[in-house]
Amino acid sequence: MIALTTPYLWYTTRATGLVALVLFTVVVSLGTFVANRIGGTIVGRFELNELHRSLSIVAVIFLAIHILTTVLDSYVSTGFISAVIPMTSHYKRIDVALGTIAFDLILAVWISSLLKLHIANRSWRFIHWFSWLAFSTAVVHGFLTGTDARSGVGLVVVIACAAVGVAAAIWRFLGRPTRASGRTALSPLATASPPTPRPESRAFPSAARPTRKGAR
Ligand code: HEM
Repeated sequence: MIALTTPYLWYTTRATGLVALVLFTVVVSLGTFVANRIGGTIVGRFELNELHRSLSIVAVIFLAIHILTTVLDSYVSTGFISAVIPMTSHYKRIDVALGTIAFDLILAVWISSLLKLHIANRSWRFIHWFSWLAFSTAVVHGFLTGTDARSGVGLVVVIACAAVGVAAAIWRFLGRPTRASGRTALSPLATASPPTPRPESRAFPSAARPTRKGAR
């Protein structure tokens, strides 16, 4: 087997881990805004929902890089299998397993959202609750596994993420609207049917189409 290790892989693992955690904190907070039906005055609810969705994609990209650099760096004995099956990493078995559990839960939430149109709303909501568990597990994973997360700025970032997550969870339960059972907004792209030709363009084939006076 080829051994591949450079400090840059390790730096990337550390940096992307922290960035992914911050992004997931923002995604969870925005999700709480959407669920609590906030928005409409300065930023619309639809825009908040789209931001929540788009940032979750960015967060997953950072997470993918975090996992890839961990796996590629042969200094730590964590293989691809450890990214999806907990307790298979020889390096910091339990601490990395928490990251794996967070990743599996995020995958479930993500796949269910991609299939939102094809599954029952109740099932989608149930799976979406996994985000809270994924977020909490990721915070503990970051704190236990990280090099930077144990002191200095890294620790401040992890504590701030945890605090925002707890505040969002409390607000989610205390501030939820009475009418919260409806389906949250879907992207127009998700429901859009292919554009149909407008009747007037069929009525006037290009040659016979009336032109404006003076137009060439
Ligand atoms: C939602 C999922 C995950 C998040 C948000 C996350 C986030 C983090 C954070 C914040 C750190 C601390 C970085 C530092 O302070 O140095 C970290 C470290 C680490 N993570 Fe993850 N992680 C996740 C999943 C995973 C998975 C699935 C793996 C394994 C394949 C993994 C492997 C590692 C390793 C090896 C470290 C230690 C890096 C070091 O030596 O400092 N993580 N992660």
